[in-house]
Amino acid sequence: MSGPLLRVENLKKYFPIKRNILETLRKAPVRYVKAVDGISFEIARGEVLALIGESGCGKTTAGRTVLRLIEPTDGRIIFDGTDITKLSREEMRPFRRRMQIIFQDPYASLSPRMKIGDAIAHPLLVHGLAEKEEAREFALKMLKRVGLTPEDEFYDRYPHHLSGGQRQRVVIARAMILKPEFVVADEAVSMIDVSMRASILELLESFRKEYNLSQLFITHDIAVGKLIADRIAVMYLGKIVEIGPTDEVLKNPAHPYTMALIQAVPSIARRKKEKKLKITGEVPNAANPPRGCRFHPRCPFASETCIAHEPELVEISHNHFVACHHPLR
Ligand SMILES: Nc1ncnc2c1ncn2[C@@H]1O[C@H](COP(=O)(O)OP(=O)(O)OP(=O)(O)O)[C@@H](O)[C@H]1O
Ligand SMILES: [Mg+2]
Repeated sequence: MSGPLLRVENLKKYFPIKRNILETLRKAPVRYVKAVDGISFEIARGEVLALIGESGCGKTTAGRTVLRLIEPTDGRIIFDGTDITKLSREEMRPFRRRMQIIFQDPYASLSPRMKIGDAIAHPLLVHGLAEKEEAREFALKMLKRVGLTPEDEFYDRYPHHLSGGQRQRVVIARAMILKPEFVVADEAVSMIDVSMRASILELLESFRKEYNLSQLFITHDIAVGKLIADRIAVMYLGKIVEIGPTDEVLKNPAHPYTMALIQAVPSIARRKKEKKLKITGEVPNAANPPRGCRFHPRCPFASETCIAHEPELVEISHNHFVACHHPLR
């Protein structure tokens, strides 16, 4: 089928903030953390979109909401032409198989008491795709496929017998055994030794080729995004502030925040002599984001317009969008 595999329209996720006793007595209105506040993007078949931004900007919430592991507050999620936003648990079932997630911490996402081979076979049993013996055969093949050999030895090991990199291979194998079309990889290499990262990224890349796998690759590390992504989306306080083809965004960042993220990484900084943007302060509280452009309190170019009006995403070159009143050019 043509068209994007995934389309996300104006997606929002607000978390209510627990009121203290005084607020409850005063019947103060419930306030919300606007973790994701109206994001839109598409992912084509076989495409990798990296979602990049500082801690707390809403990346994980966005990824989990897209998969409906948490319920969206508003917006639409369209997967392979079907609006899945409001599907019931039962109606979601066939989609669950096609959409998988790989978490940051492979130790936390594996049961310590389950043999890793059984952990990999488990999704096949849950989805009724194989009987026990057959699932074991598939799991053995998958162990080999992800480089955990001899596979029959690895099958009987427990997570604590493995290194961090090996555990992440198990988590990837478990997600890939269902031959998904789409995966959210949430900081999939962040907790892994730098020496092992490249091989884990290569493993994901090999599944992209084999399954034509689309990925939403969440990372705070723009250098990792450069390695793996076709396009990059930069998030700031619940919003996408810039999105475009990886090379274009890295060579010609238009948002000052993107520029600052790039300049912070020497290996991808554009010109060493280029004047460094001075971004001060921390990401503001998502419960009370600044009005106008959310980045204005930290932006060296902020003007009255930025304080008064929230910028919309505007296309500044082919497929390259930025939400900024004073884009860098
Ligand atoms: N279940 C929840 N209940 C209330 N607030 C939440 C919940 N989950 C996330 N938040 C808040 O939403 C905002 C976005 O969090 P999120 O975990 O999505 O950010 P992130 O970009 O993934 O950060 P990190 O890089 O640290 O993983 C934060 O302010 C966070 O405190
Ligand atoms: Mg996160």
